[in-house]
Amino acid sequence: MQTLAQVLKASNAPAALQDVLTTTTNTCIDICEALHKGSLAGILGVAGNENVQGEEQKKLDVISNDMLKSDLMNCPAVRAVASEEEDDIVPANTDGEYLIAFDPLDGSSNIDINAMVGTIFSIYHDQSTQPATEADFLKPGSEQAAAGYVLYGPSCMLVLSTGEGVNMFTLDPEKGEFVETQTGIAVAKDTQEFAINMSNQRFWSSNMQSYVEDLVAGKEGPREKNFNMRWVAAMVGDVHRILCRGGIFMYPWDSKDPSKPGKLRLMYEANPMAMLVEQSGGKAHTHTQRILDIQPEGIHQRVPVILGAANEVDKCLSY
Ligand code: F6P
Ligand code: MN
Repeated sequence: MQTLAQVLKASNAPAALQDVLTTTTNTCIDICEALHKGSLAGILGVAGNENVQGEEQKKLDVISNDMLKSDLMNCPAVRAVASEEEDDIVPANTDGEYLIAFDPLDGSSNIDINAMVGTIFSIYHDQSTQPATEADFLKPGSEQAAAGYVLYGPSCMLVLSTGEGVNMFTLDPEKGEFVETQTGIAVAKDTQEFAINMSNQRFWSSNMQSYVEDLVAGKEGPREKNFNMRWVAAMVGDVHRILCRGGIFMYPWDSKDPSKPGKLRLMYEANPMAMLVEQSGGKAHTHTQRILDIQPEGIHQRVPVILGAANEVDKCLSY
């Protein structure tokens, strides 16, 4: 079995990108340790601040953000970072060639119930020699040099793409390193499993309501097959299930807050997950376009997300 370092060395990823990935994933190993200590470390609960989206920050969100920010700023290959927990981008090294956007702890409402959470990251190459600005980050997801997540579940897993398919790694806690455990991840084109927060049903568009109504109607309905439903309430957990056993995941537009085009964030949730899903043969769309084609307008922009099994995403969009 190959370690992450060996896999990266054998890949076409430039050395500077390998450094960014090694730094990021090493910090995630530290975050994993902090999570495992749980309340023993006195770090569960609310830190008292709100993040830029007005959600309550948990202490571990703040801690994970600070760990990633400080380690990445010290990595010479990093030009700037953008984080869910930072209002503005944080410039690092003017000579650095890579920009990294991350969600330090996705699904953080799961922390207090000891359920799955994760770190999601998206990396862009950017060779400008000027100090980094937010505008440098606003590249479509199709230009990502690498994307991935670390899932803090029963085992700690890294799922990574540098544009040559998707590889899964499992943390060997004794050695403190990620070891490759699955390669050539492929999402089946058809599925009988969907993921959506059903409590929002009455706020969806009528087309989305009809689509889900037809899924739920099962064998007796127009789809003529039964569907199962799962919802981890952490995108990282739901997307991981889709990469492992297929399915469709949706966080569509809803009318609860008409000013928001969706709940999930383009730069550090939708784009990296879209790259992983497409690299596995799946599809990732908003209601109207391929996620990786979106020209971002801001680092905290939100988008509707429909991703997973290619034929099922097409079916959903046909409504
Ligand atoms: O980061 C936002 C997020 O926590 C995602 O990880 C997850 O998919 C979603 O929100 C959960 O939303 P809800 O609270 O509606 O279940
Ligand atoms: Mn998140």
